Amino acid sequence: IAFDGFVNAPDADYSQDRERTAAEKAIQSVLHQFGKTYFPVINGESIPTASFVESLNPSNFKQVVGKIGLASIPQADLAVTAAKQAFPAWKKLSPKSRGDILRKAADLMEAQRAELTAWIVWEVGKPLREADAEVSEAIDFCRYYAKEMERISQPHQRNVPGEDNTYIYQPRGVVVVISPWNFPFAIALGMSVAALAAGNTVILKPAEQSSVVGAKIAEVLQASGMPKGVFNYLPGIGSEVGAHLVKHPNVHLIAFTGSQQVGCQIYADAAILRPGQKHMKRVIAEMGGKNTIVIDESSDLDQAVVGVMNSAFGYAGQKCSACSRVVVLSPVYDNFLHRLVEATRSLVVNEAHLPNTKLGPVIDADAQAKIRSYIAKGHETAKVALEMPVPEHGYYVSPTILSEVEPESAIAQEEIFGPVLAVIRAESFEQALAIANNTPYALTGGLYSRTPSHIDRAYREFEVGNLYVNRGITGALVDRQPFGGFKLSGIGSKAGGPDYLLQFLEPRVITENT
Ligand code: NAD
Ligand code: ALA
Repeated sequence: IAFDGFVNAPDADYSQDRERTAAEKAIQSVLHQFGKTYFPVINGESIPTASFVESLNPSNFKQVVGKIGLASIPQADLAVTAAKQAFPAWKKLSPKSRGDILRKAADLMEAQRAELTAWIVWEVGKPLREADAEVSEAIDFCRYYAKEMERISQPHQRNVPGEDNTYIYQPRGVVVVISPWNFPFAIALGMSVAALAAGNTVILKPAEQSSVVGAKIAEVLQASGMPKGVFNYLPGIGSEVGAHLVKHPNVHLIAFTGSQQVGCQIYADAAILRPGQKHMKRVIAEMGGKNTIVIDESSDLDQAVVGVMNSAFGYAGQKCSACSRVVVLSPVYDNFLHRLVEATRSLVVNEAHLPNTKLGPVIDADAQAKIRSYIAKGHETAKVALEMPVPEHGYYVSPTILSEVEPESAIAQEEIFGPVLAVIRAESFEQALAIANNTPYALTGGLYSRTPSHIDRAYREFEVGNLYVNRGITGALVDRQPFGGFKLSGIGSKAGGPDYLLQFLEPRVITENT
């Protein structure tokens, strides 16, 4: 299905002096811009607000990265009106013209790569290389969806003598994008540009913890030549402004990525027909995961140890794709566990902007407390194979490996969203697969094996949206690994894949008697 001509943007190459220096300079330059205030942008205008929230640096919570002006309910209504008014003209532009604006945005992001990366590092405590990869993914989303829309918009003709049939797509209207903090740039921007490429207008409600990065998205899209009102940036409290937007009668589609609890609430709220509403709302909800890697007795343990460690502890385990359970067959269990513990012990836990940091902080005090409460449960119900001392001036949590974990226990079933890995023993491959499939989620999964029959079986029976064989389970690339899950991990087609834009469009058929 892949089309010609799409190439993923390469990440920065920090082995090159020039790129390393640019990154160091940007880290310092952004540090000097701390403390500014960011307001909602509605119809191209910055709008003053009555209430604010501070966005802190999770690596060192004494530092205020920026102050966010929180939108009120009347301001949310204003944003819907602006997006509604901007819709007819934006819809009329050709996919190529809309795509050119998105391609311009991608070029601007390439030019500002080091600075955008630095904002991500500082605001959400993401280590440099992972933050840089997020900028690459955002660039890919712009170029990929621009091109995809050009492909999809080719009318499909099915003509017979005396009758012409034309199958076309039209945009839906006002799209509300509600995004999480863990990919504050790529996911917020990806959902937004998909909606925009398809000809819809957008209100972005970013996560409270990452609204400065949200403001950077607004700056880039404004600079790319997006007409006023087509993209509106609306920071605010999710349960107030977010919930209000979901219920608004003039909103046509909600593109949400976040927790399962909030996703289910949005799904329910959007299903209710409101006074004045003349359409059914569509909800795209990408939610959580409880992702498993299976290690069988034929696996290459050198590969498996590194793959599991990176998948479990990359961005402190705060990726929806992260590995939080590893199921290991008995013959290799002890050897694997010993090697995994020793490898993980070598990870440097420190401030995200420092070049040798492998594991930064978690996002905030609530997350730190929640993750630590799961670790306390682990102390009661499993063996603690690794815990390490961590710095105290930020929201740090020790990388933690719990062994002999019972597959039905809370730490093996619930999304912890932190650097906590449950190691589970299995006596057969069949049992391992059954344990892997026994969660309410189906997002990512992995298998390390050199047994063809096991690999074949995993293709067919491992119930996840993205299955990885003999590699780590995070870091999906646009077009190469379209990303998303099913079961309680979400409803919606895969981001960065050929079906994604169709969700933002209404198909129509015109039949002409000729
Ligand atoms: P969250 O659900 O707490 O918040 C997500 C967004 O929803 C935020 O913008 C928040 O303000 C808003 N919100 C909160 N309550 C709302 C309400 N009642 N109505 C409307 N909006 C509301 O999630 P989070 O903590 O920001 O992100 C972490 C979660 O996201 C994890 O569960 C993770 O697995 C998931 N996630 C999934 C994917 C995926 O592709 N499947 C990707 C990244 C993150
Ligand atoms: N798309 C992200 C990944 O694959 C979440 O890690």
